Amino acid sequence: MSDKYGPNALWADIGERQINEETTVSLENFKTSEVNYRIALFNVATNGGRYLKTLIYNLASELSPTHWTALRNVRNRDVGDPVSVRYNGETVDLDYVRAVRDLEFISAGVDVDAFRILEIGAGYGRTCHTILSNHDIAEYWILDLAKTLDLSRRYLSTVLDDELFAKVRFVAVDDIDVLDSQQFDLCVNIDSLAEMDVDTVQAYLALIDAQCRYFYVNNPVGKYMDKTLDGHARGEEAIALALSPGLLTDVIDIHDNGAVEAHSRKFVAAYRPGGGWRCVSDAWSRPFSHYWQALYRSET
Ligand SMILES: C[S@@+](CC[C@H](N)C(=O)[O-])C[C@H]1O[C@@H](n2cnc3c(N)ncnc32)[C@H](O)[C@@H]1O
Repeated sequence: MSDKYGPNALWADIGERQINEETTVSLENFKTSEVNYRIALFNVATNGGRYLKTLIYNLASELSPTHWTALRNVRNRDVGDPVSVRYNGETVDLDYVRAVRDLEFISAGVDVDAFRILEIGAGYGRTCHTILSNHDIAEYWILDLAKTLDLSRRYLSTVLDDELFAKVRFVAVDDIDVLDSQQFDLCVNIDSLAEMDVDTVQAYLALIDAQCRYFYVNNPVGKYMDKTLDGHARGEEAIALALSPGLLTDVIDIHDNGAVEAHSRKFVAAYRPGGGWRCVSDAWSRPFSHYWQALYRSET
């Protein structure tokens, strides 16, 4: 027999180390072992960056013309060195893909031009950056913990031009009284109320009920304990701390769409700021399986 068809050096090595009589003796777990990591699947433990880039690349391939326009309008997205891919000549990262998708959802329910917006818990400010870059907003107020506020102030002063930055007001939670005399057209909360204690969430919902006309919320529908997702890398104490905050504390299988959709009904009921509010629309918030979004309008 010709030796043309035999393993080359690469596959001889794989045969030595990964796929051989010993490693394939049992079929029990081979699809999550080095055997399959050399055949069909990248090892999740060592390929997080690859999977993230794959996710971003796939999301970029599905962006609509409206999303692309919104994304291109947001200048300086590369500040902070995000994990990104290149698609249609643009650098694309997950934070801003989510932001333009969130904005599209809000815009489908209400025209935010000329709005006074209040965002509670803005992180570094990606949503503020995206909305201000795409709409003629009157004022954008950020209410946050002092330390995070320092970050968003520095980030937004770097990425926004002077005219847009002048529209942003930064309020630390210790100075919340500053908001007493203010009315807002829209309140935004993304990935944040679910991490606050119940009393705090209820106080914020009461503030929204009294001082806002619309409310956009985007948060998880429940908690989870699936160790295969992160190996509980932050430690068991951190897991325990994450399980109690928020209004929605049922532990669910977040990768079961039936469970997520069932809990999405609880989500829509829980985040309604008051009796005089109606949910205009709600939907799954891609890409993370357990995030839901809803837009509410005050009817009073
Ligand atoms: C996971 S980050 C999400 C940030 C941002 N919304 C985003 O999606 O990129 C949670 C945010 O909630 C803020 N936060 C936590 N507790 C808060 C509180 N009691 N009042 C206001 N903001 C709070 C944090 O400082 C942070 O900005």
